[in-house]
Amino acid sequence: MRKVKTISNPMFEIKNVSKSYGGNIALSPLSLTVRKGETVALVGPSGSGKTTLLNILANMIKPDSGEVIIDGIPAGKLRPGREMSGKVGIIHQQLDLVDQLPVIHNVLAGRLGQWSLFRSLLSLIIPQDKELAVNALERVGLLEKIYSRTSHLSGGEQQRVALARILVQRPQAILADEPVSALDPARAEDLLQLLVGFAREEQQTLIASLHSVEYATRYFSRIIALREGKIYFDRPAVEVKDSDLAQLYELKEDANAKAVS
Ligand SMILES: Nc1ncnc2c1ncn2[C@@H]1O[C@H](COP(=O)(O)OP(=O)(O)OP(=O)(O)O)[C@@H](O)[C@H]1O
Ligand SMILES: [Mg+2]
Repeated sequence: MRKVKTISNPMFEIKNVSKSYGGNIALSPLSLTVRKGETVALVGPSGSGKTTLLNILANMIKPDSGEVIIDGIPAGKLRPGREMSGKVGIIHQQLDLVDQLPVIHNVLAGRLGQWSLFRSLLSLIIPQDKELAVNALERVGLLEKIYSRTSHLSGGEQQRVALARILVQRPQAILADEPVSALDPARAEDLLQLLVGFAREEQQTLIASLHSVEYATRYFSRIIALREGKIYFDRPAVEVKDSDLAQLYELKEDANAKAVS
């Protein structure tokens, strides 16, 4: 019998979305669908719009025009808190950890969207659902730091804490903005393996912006490249050629010079 490949429903659909800051166009009208369970790397030169796109997908900034649909629901209709945190979790480049607090509090902050206000406030004094934090820290290999002050951890360890927080949140989709930028190559690969591995285990959708194209093609199934706020290419990782990437990162002046010569 022929095996039929099932196509999953869209997790994110954006249609003609644009965003400018002052006169500066961060995203030109672009449309895109990411299906449930896909692992997508977002690549492109600095300033190409990766962070802007991730923040729009996370419903954290509103585009100037166009539609954003998250798990079939228009973004404007999703309530912040429980509903939104069950759908999408974001790891920002600056991690958003509270440095003065012990690791356990930062990990359990992944539950804040689900807890009542009282429970959230109480959690600042007495960690709630401690076993969730223990499990998550065990999975990222950082259990021995559970009571350490977060500011005492290395950059790589803090990135693991941010990952543990997302494991506790368990959203349907994870957006990660340059999750390994601060790490040496061995640790970067280790963390990417964890991130992509967890997302695949939990059948979560994962979109991560990366500066390393090598990691993008090695760990992700689809690559979306942005350049100057537009989609430059969007294809399966196995079909991305070195020449595509060379052109993507070519400096504007070089491209102009070639066009004239
Ligand atoms: N809050 C803001 N105010 C003004 N301009 C902004 C703001 N955020 C982004 N921009 C501009 O929008 C464009 C896209 O920025 P964005 O941060 O999305 O790029 P990026 O691809 O994430 O870059 P990088 O790889 O350096 O992180 C840039 O020209 C940037 O200067
Ligand atoms: Mg960015």
